Amino acid sequence: MVKICCIGAGYVGGPTMAVIALKCPSVEVAVVDISVPRITAWNSDQLPIYEPGLDDVVKQCRGKNLFFSTDVEKHVREADIVFVSVNTPTKTRGLGAGKAADLTYWESAARMIADVSVSDKIVVEKSTVPVKTAEAIEKILMHNSKGIKFQILSNPEFLAEGTAIEDLFYPDRVLIGGRETPEGFKAVKALKDVYAQWVPEDRILTTNLWSAELTKLAANAFLAQRISSVNAMSALCEATGANVSEVSYAVGKDSRIGPKFLNSSVGFGGSCFQKDILNLVYICECNGLPEVAEYWKQVIKINDYQKTRFVNRIVSSMFNTVSNKKIAVLGFAFKKDTGDTRETPAIDVCKGLLGDKARISIYDPQVTEEQIQRDLTMNKFDWDHPIHLQPMSPTTVKQVSVAWDAYAATKDAHGICLLTEWDEFKTLDYERIFENMQKPAFVFDGRNVVDAEKLRKIGFIVYSIGKPLDQWLKDMPALA
Ligand code: NAD
Ligand code: UDX
Repeated sequence: MVKICCIGAGYVGGPTMAVIALKCPSVEVAVVDISVPRITAWNSDQLPIYEPGLDDVVKQCRGKNLFFSTDVEKHVREADIVFVSVNTPTKTRGLGAGKAADLTYWESAARMIADVSVSDKIVVEKSTVPVKTAEAIEKILMHNSKGIKFQILSNPEFLAEGTAIEDLFYPDRVLIGGRETPEGFKAVKALKDVYAQWVPEDRILTTNLWSAELTKLAANAFLAQRISSVNAMSALCEATGANVSEVSYAVGKDSRIGPKFLNSSVGFGGSCFQKDILNLVYICECNGLPEVAEYWKQVIKINDYQKTRFVNRIVSSMFNTVSNKKIAVLGFAFKKDTGDTRETPAIDVCKGLLGDKARISIYDPQVTEEQIQRDLTMNKFDWDHPIHLQPMSPTTVKQVSVAWDAYAATKDAHGICLLTEWDEFKTLDYERIFENMQKPAFVFDGRNVVDAEKLRKIGFIVYSIGKPLDQWLKDMPALA
């Protein structure tokens, strides 16, 4: 029986390994982590992450060929294939701070693999890492190997949160990069055989190590660039009376462009896009390519601009001040169908409103109060460095409350911000909400989820990203 061990039981390690266990009954999969609460949750009925379909998959395999454990060394020692799926956040200190990937967790995992191994192993980079990381990992493993042979593969993960199980069941492609040597090809084949149990062969791509590593950064940069492109257009749409939904629909009809990933929004969030682009920018700079670095930096700049623009629009529409006004924030997760708040645009929008002394009442169906408070207290990039966490300041505590539903959040509010496209926000009783709000009552739709015309008929003043402005908003232009 082939034994697989995955180091890191997070958003990637957990679902990916659960699907491998489901699709490969003859493989034994152990997912290990240094975090005791995470592993305890994976072994309970309350999994540590919310992901549609994940419960079912875990229930089918857990205890049979899928195990979650904190005994990292034992499972690594016994494994034939070791996936490393630890976090690779943006560095907050030292050389490359604010851009480069922090490989501390990766390096410590690699040293541990070298320390405890007593048999040859394939080590798979599942985390997103800078191109050429495999070379550094090889050095760590070889220098500490006591004669044991390691083959390093790059097998980046392309799943998106909220659709992880679907993406893993039917991936557009699986990418495996390896050394172009007989041992390298043998290792690539061993991993390919695992995926081939459910992924059609023509969707399993094999490349050299550096192409696989770089493809992951490139794919995320291309995806994020589409969002920044459509968001840049949304600003121009508002200025000219064009409608961004009509523009993106018509643009996406060109088969060379395609319709996906062209939804204008308050900005992209999530743990990957910003981190991976900053990492790409840093790699370009280190390779003496400042023009290329500058090009990709713009994707982040437009994303930041879009969030600032949204906050400015709220403040200017509400007579240039939100001081002491209650603003309801509907949705805090970075997208629907996940409870993940890493780099969610809601953090920047809420911080912007708090900076203008608003009182905010937040409701999200999947995000806990504790998480929201932590997010609003943290400095940029600190979320993945637990050591830097601080308690919430007393002023922030007074200004922020978390509500149990959208009706409680919007009661007596002056304005509503829609920041996550949860389906339930489309079908709220907006007449009831309007009745219970201060007047004039505003809706700022950062995801284009509500029917603006219907809401205007009720009496709301509505701002929808990238859509023609009504007279009120035209009379109160947002200043950058
Ligand atoms: P995560 O923070 O959810 O999980 C990482 C886990 O690794 C944590 O539970 C942490 O405790 C554990 N860990 C860290 N060091 C360890 C060690 N030395 N030994 C054992 N466990 C250790 O992160 P994630 O979202 O799963 O992302 C993991 C990697 O996958 C990152 O490189 C990320 O860029 C990449 N990725 C993420 C996504 C996504 O949607 N989240 C998609 C594709 C790729
Ligand atoms: C992304 C990549 O899609 C995935 O392939 C990679 O493995 C990890 O990073 P994820 O961050 O989980 O996945 O979600 P994604 O669906 O890409 O959304 C990222 C952000 O972009 C979200 O905030 C989302 O709301 C936003 N978005 C997405 C838009 O604003 N407009 C769109 O058209 C699409």
